[in-house]
Amino acid sequence: MQKLSIQGGNKLNGEVRISGAKNAALPIMCASLLSAEDLQLSNLPDMHDVATMAKLLQQMGVAVSNSPKASTFNASKVDKLEAPYEMVKTMRAAILVLGPLLTRFGEARVSLPGGCAIGSRPVDLHIKGLQAMGAEVHIEHGYIHATAKRLQGAKICFDVVSVTGTENLMMAAALADGVTTLENAAREPEVVDLANCLIAMGAKISGAGSDTITIQGVQALHGAEYRVMPDRIESGTFLVAAAAAGGRITLTDTRADILDSVLDKLREAGATIEVSGDRITLEMHQRPRAVNLRTAPYPAFPTDMQAQFMALNTIADGTAMVVETIFENRFMHVQELLRLGAQIDIEGNTAIVKGCAQLEGATIMATDLRASACLVIAGLVAQGETIVDRIYHLDRGYEHIEAKLSALGAQIRRIK
Ligand code: UD1
Repeated sequence: MQKLSIQGGNKLNGEVRISGAKNAALPIMCASLLSAEDLQLSNLPDMHDVATMAKLLQQMGVAVSNSPKASTFNASKVDKLEAPYEMVKTMRAAILVLGPLLTRFGEARVSLPGGCAIGSRPVDLHIKGLQAMGAEVHIEHGYIHATAKRLQGAKICFDVVSVTGTENLMMAAALADGVTTLENAAREPEVVDLANCLIAMGAKISGAGSDTITIQGVQALHGAEYRVMPDRIESGTFLVAAAAAGGRITLTDTRADILDSVLDKLREAGATIEVSGDRITLEMHQRPRAVNLRTAPYPAFPTDMQAQFMALNTIADGTAMVVETIFENRFMHVQELLRLGAQIDIEGNTAIVKGCAQLEGATIMATDLRASACLVIAGLVAQGETIVDRIYHLDRGYEHIEAKLSALGAQIRRIK
């Protein structure tokens, strides 16, 4: 199993290019299932989840061709309407093939995702929405088996804001008969990116980015070329790393307009931030101040940035309250931070982090994707060597993270 060795104490300085967004790339790749024509995607990040999604689509019969600038997906010969357990258990986003397969081919068989490290993460809202559109859905042998002659437009109100739920139903509605309205829809920028790609393919969608999305179903979608948006969570991760370690870094190819809540918290921690076009520069030369956080759906503070800010709070001046409202078990990184000397108490969905002057390097274990990023940041500020074990989680969702951090001056290397 691969590990990262980090020698803490270096400041971060320089420029880093932000990759395409994982959480936009995955649904957009699934959108290729909605058309028999080519979908050419650029700015797809080079990471395991994207490779796993490409493999899943290929298993279904989608032709995938790669050039240095773009990947092309062609779903004219899909012959297997199934996402097997082996794929879904490693990448929950595989659930995103359900809506497209069902609406275009009238049938889909997708493994139930089951639990994962950060909580139970059910998919009941995806299923209920498809049923409201007329699908017959049965759970058989751990699989969701859905059938429908043609899905019918419907008015659907989500009980809970769900990102992939909104994306699945938006894709299903794109080819349904009539108008679908999604209420209490997710407003995440990745939902908007998917909607923009679908619109480029000929879908009729309005309201993406608000909590009500209206989709007028069409008979067929055509091919398109689309560039995936920059990754706001990767952007946030590098900014927090520099705020914790100190220094001056500039992110390029990113977007500040979708990072408001994160940039506000970094300023509160004491960082100076300048935005110019698609560049964000962060400068930090003092010990960070502790910042309270409460995760909530976009545009509020993202749950996918909670763990990284926890690392920053461990060495901050003061005490911070971190409240996690999206996932019930998303404090797995806390036990590992304690091994580095952090002072954190957990009460239900709240972590109370008392900043200490210094963490000390130790061997720690990554448990999920964003927890891994938190541990890397902790390693960058800890005294001596930190070994982060089980970094396959990190490889799922970050493009070449140790190369990017090394280029900024971090002492970090992969041990094979
Ligand atoms: C997506 C993101 C993930 C992020 C999360 C919240 C992708 C590929 N993943 O995950 O990185 O952490 O949004 O911003 O985009 N829920 C239900 N029933 C459902 C669906 C969800 O109860 O059918 C609950 C979940 O348990 C959770 C909440 O709704 O408590 C939000 O989950 P959701 O937005 O669906 O997360 P994902 O789309 O899986």
